[in-house]
Amino acid sequence: MKLLVVGSGGREHAIVRALGRSAEADEIFVLPGNGGIAAEAKCVPVGAKDIAGIAAFAKEQGIDYAVVAPDDPLVLGAVDALEEAGVPCFGPRANAAIIEGSKAFAKDLMQRYGIPTAKYATFEDAGEAESYIDTLPEGNVVVKADGLALGKGVIIAGSRAEAKSAVREMMLDGKFGASGRRVVIEEFLTGPEVSVLSFTDGETVVPMVSSMDHKRAHDGDTGLNTGGMGVVAPNPYYTDEVAAECMEKIFLPTVRAMKKEGRTFKGCLYFGLMMTPDGPKVIEYNCRFGDPETQAVLPLLESDLLTVMRACTEGRLADVEVKFAKKCSCCLVKASAGYPEKYATGSEIKVEGELDAELYIAGAKLEEGRLVTSGGRVLGVTAVADTLEEAVAKAYREADKVHFDGEFFRKDIGARALAAKRG
Ligand code: AMP
Ligand code: GLY
Repeated sequence: MKLLVVGSGGREHAIVRALGRSAEADEIFVLPGNGGIAAEAKCVPVGAKDIAGIAAFAKEQGIDYAVVAPDDPLVLGAVDALEEAGVPCFGPRANAAIIEGSKAFAKDLMQRYGIPTAKYATFEDAGEAESYIDTLPEGNVVVKADGLALGKGVIIAGSRAEAKSAVREMMLDGKFGASGRRVVIEEFLTGPEVSVLSFTDGETVVPMVSSMDHKRAHDGDTGLNTGGMGVVAPNPYYTDEVAAECMEKIFLPTVRAMKKEGRTFKGCLYFGLMMTPDGPKVIEYNCRFGDPETQAVLPLLESDLLTVMRACTEGRLADVEVKFAKKCSCCLVKASAGYPEKYATGSEIKVEGELDAELYIAGAKLEEGRLVTSGGRVLGVTAVADTLEEAVAKAYREADKVHFDGEFFRKDIGARALAAKRG
């Protein structure tokens, strides 16, 4: 089969590598991909948000199956456009991708169907939002831009005054453009977070191995929020008991609700959960694979990814086996110093010796045959082992063989998970 993957990060590299293991995959194109992915697939410079360009490329090349990985093209209707061009796809149509594209939609859906989440209110008027904040107890308030904001649209305000200034920045100063014209104000929840990516065909939900992201830039969960600096899988807070509760109260109700609303969701539905004292609650939905979660989760998948994806598209997920290794993984992200703010690019990435790990490139390009950094998050190194402790140690050991000038990475990926395991 001729396959197409839309996107350009470490997540896409992990998807391309997993698809490449399929006996049915003959050729993989990536739009636009990156300098690292180019070593194992054909990268073509069509932007991930160029929906018409993606559909035209797929049609022209006679693509048999496409995977749309990032949120933007999904929300913009890339799957709809590819399907119209006669190309079956993995990923939700735009009317289902709204579960990530509009936080107000997601919250209303959860409220209507009794799916546990933080209490909230939605506003389109800054004055009304500020008056509402005045009615809340003094302390932490969560302010969220309604639309996509490159993962930066969530402000955890420490006081009512801070929350009001976040509202003004979003709604009056246009900080996140159109995405911040509407805001969701939410109760602050506490507890460990768990990410669960799931395969779904719109009826059946098959959760993948759970994982724990590390969103803050620096050790000890300090510094700015990033796209994710490392992941361990499985997540020790996601016990079998919690998993059963999530399936019954969150996963199935969400997929059934979407179907009932005429927005059948097919693809990867990502549940961002918090284990609160009142049980698991939804912090966010993503309409796609997480990044870097995918870089930790897919190396544990033993089943053929292409077969599972096509079963989702064709509504036969219940008939296929989705098997994960009973092992643990740790993905370390190496970023350019300064990320998520200003950072330098153009350093050569060098690998010393044999790597006993997966190396996924996220932000690099080829320059005269050399791989040089071109992004904030540059690469991910994923190690797999029998225990979490070994996986973490191995990831650090192997990542030490991969270098670029001006690199930075967290030294404590997995520390919280290991502490939880030790009780
Ligand atoms: P999101 O972009 O929705 O993933 O939010 C980013 C991060 O903000 C989440 O991973 C949580 O750590 C935090 N967060 C979001 N909503 C809440 C909430 N209601 N209470 C506490 N923390 C939250
Ligand atoms: N790592 C978080 C996300 O992909 O949204």
